[in-house]
Amino acid sequence: MDDLKQKYLAQVADAGDEAALEAIRLAAVGKKGEVALKMRELGRMTPEERQVAGPALNALKDEINAALAAKKAALADAALDARLREEWLDVTLPARDRRQGTIHPISQVTEELTAIFAEMGFSVAEGPRIDTDWYNFDALNIPGHHPARAEMDTFYMHRAEGDNRPPHVLRTHTSPVQIRSMEKMGAPLRIICPGGVYRADYDQTHTPMFHQVEGLAIDRDISMAHLKWVLEEFVKAYFEVDGVDLRFRASHFPFTEPSAEVDIRCSWEGGTLKVGEGDDWLEILGSGMVHPNVLKAGGIDPDQWQGFAFGMGIDRIAMLKYGIPDLRAFFDSDLRWLRHYGFASLDQPTLHGGLSR
Ligand code: DAH
Repeated sequence: MDDLKQKYLAQVADAGDEAALEAIRLAAVGKKGEVALKMRELGRMTPEERQVAGPALNALKDEINAALAAKKAALADAALDARLREEWLDVTLPARDRRQGTIHPISQVTEELTAIFAEMGFSVAEGPRIDTDWYNFDALNIPGHHPARAEMDTFYMHRAEGDNRPPHVLRTHTSPVQIRSMEKMGAPLRIICPGGVYRADYDQTHTPMFHQVEGLAIDRDISMAHLKWVLEEFVKAYFEVDGVDLRFRASHFPFTEPSAEVDIRCSWEGGTLKVGEGDDWLEILGSGMVHPNVLKAGGIDPDQWQGFAFGMGIDRIAMLKYGIPDLRAFFDSDLRWLRHYGFASLDQPTLHGGLSR
């Protein structure tokens, strides 16, 4: 028995992994292992011999099992130690200083204007970029024969012969979200809707896909004065200046009455665009009092409610604020451009923390 004990304890001590331990276990204390075979011999012994050999065999079995368990735990510890040595990491090393990705100016400006309008009680609404021509046109008081439809250079979705679904378009403006928001939320209402829009147009200041932010405020007695105040507050906060001259020009949109286009004072001196100085004016948005037909299309009673709306070019105000001369570069995915005009990913624009710093 002593020989058995020496033999197996030595093997356990030498075992290099769990598989080796299992082989030793089977050979020593398994059902057909050496200790089991010895136990079978107990039957042939005299009762006196059995009284000595029985407990001794059980003790041997326990001892080998205990050695196996201890060795197993030791192997696991060693494996963990090895892994920890391997995966060691110096958390005091400086972070990589070269920015790979940056926040695109459109995303940055969207965050900025969302923060500003949120402060004035506007929530963010969204709508689909592929919409029916009813939402994009009819509901906005632009009937089929209206010249505005032709002017918009609309992308129509292909329709297979026999397709009875209503015609769909790539939305040409964010105004259809006015209707969807009225349907969903009713009055009173205060929303902005930033998002992509599409028109077949391409030059230095036009791309087939660009971005607008729609604004809509509906209440019992909202007037042009509220519109003017909201836009002035927005422009001051957005350009991070105390005052910017705005020019409200009488205009016409089918979905507003009266309507105004808003220009911002700027200068192009030396080929660079500066906001708030100079004698030039740049149009940044269209606006007006929501047309009663539009309220009706959105399920809101125009005898009870009125409101203002505006639609502003996000790309345009991004170019203005950050001095970006060519709109097309926004969508070229040129890494050099993105590194130059992009923003650090952890700088969340807030009014208290500063929008762009
Ligand atoms: N939807 C117009 C466009 O894309 C912009 C616009 C003008 C939106 C006046 C409005 C508005 O909400 O009241 O040209």
